[in-house]
Amino acid sequence: VTSFAAVPERLLLGSGPSPVPQRVLDALAQPTLGHLDPAFVEVMEEVAELLRATFRTANRTAFPVSATGSGGMQTMVDNLIRPDDRVIVGVNGLFGERMSDALTRRGAEVVRVEAEWGRAIPTERLVAAAEDPFAALFVVHGETSTGVVQPLDALAEACAQHGALFMIDCVTSLGGQPLDLDAAGVDAAFSGAQKCLNCPPGLAPFTANDRALERVQGSPSWYFDLRAVLDYWEGDGARTYHHTAPTNMVVALREALRIVQEEGLEPRWERHAKAHEALRSALAQLGFERVAPEGEQLHPLLAVRIPEGVDYNGTRAALLQDHDIEIAAASGPFAGQVWRIGVMGEGARPEPQERLVRALARELGVDVTVALDALHDGWA
Ligand SMILES: Cc1ncc(COP(=O)(O)O)c(C=O)c1O
Repeated sequence: VTSFAAVPERLLLGSGPSPVPQRVLDALAQPTLGHLDPAFVEVMEEVAELLRATFRTANRTAFPVSATGSGGMQTMVDNLIRPDDRVIVGVNGLFGERMSDALTRRGAEVVRVEAEWGRAIPTERLVAAAEDPFAALFVVHGETSTGVVQPLDALAEACAQHGALFMIDCVTSLGGQPLDLDAAGVDAAFSGAQKCLNCPPGLAPFTANDRALERVQGSPSWYFDLRAVLDYWEGDGARTYHHTAPTNMVVALREALRIVQEEGLEPRWERHAKAHEALRSALAQLGFERVAPEGEQLHPLLAVRIPEGVDYNGTRAALLQDHDIEIAAASGPFAGQVWRIGVMGEGARPEPQERLVRALARELGVDVTVALDALHDGWA
């Protein structure tokens, strides 16, 4: 018996949010602190340090924007881009489209470098677009809409030739796919709490180096004004109120980031790679083929084509209603054809994957033995 209105307990194996460990939920449910309480300031400092470690950056500026991942994108666009800036944007899925849209609304001259959904953008094409002077280049490191990872090599060098900023979306890749921001020469990046960090949705980890921050002149949006927000997050001695920080969420993020560091980034990346391959081979036994070609797969998100005869919406609905398992549909050219399965943090483990494979085989009315063997072999 609970004293509050309970919600069902789902196994979140969709495109996010991802499974939140009890330890993070316990941290979240602690008494609320004021946003200027010295005890909370200590949490803020630890979160900044943990974010630097997770992003692999020495940037001073590393904090969670009080918003979902898209708020991280808005912070980037409003503060680091100016109207009439020429910005090169990689578009090979929904989130590249979203950035292109946000930049257009900002008044930037958007140069789109496109690839078909389900493929990475060839590096040469991005580098070729960087011939004429431009202000910034943006790519989505992990395209959640397609399950494809975008290589970052050579892009920082292409930007440096024009003094342009190199910016990325690492919402789905942070903590699940190899990523070293400083080594890749990334000037600014945003992420989300609810993917491989296993925190509830509502915070957007953000980082920018001094070169990027030098471009900040002011922000068209009041809420995402980086200077004002940093007066609170980085104010030496005096932290100036801008908006009431979502203190419980920041405490939860600290716990989630501690878990990431306790495991270690490299072992975590390796676990995600292994989990991805194990699930891919198990689902292949049930007739589902991965969308991303070998070498372009985003480990935290497995997008698979639905074999003929499988009920696209009905099966997903049955997984949710009868098995409490969430997986995601797809949009755009993949609508009705592709399912997206999260392999994120606590979801990238044998037990939740086995639950999914068993439930799916059951819904399809097929024997699960061969698929389970493939899953176990993948984890062995
Ligand atoms: C790659 C990518 N970018 C941006 C976003 C936007 O984040 P949010 O939905 O938290 O605003 C998402 C969310 O799924 C994403 O996967």
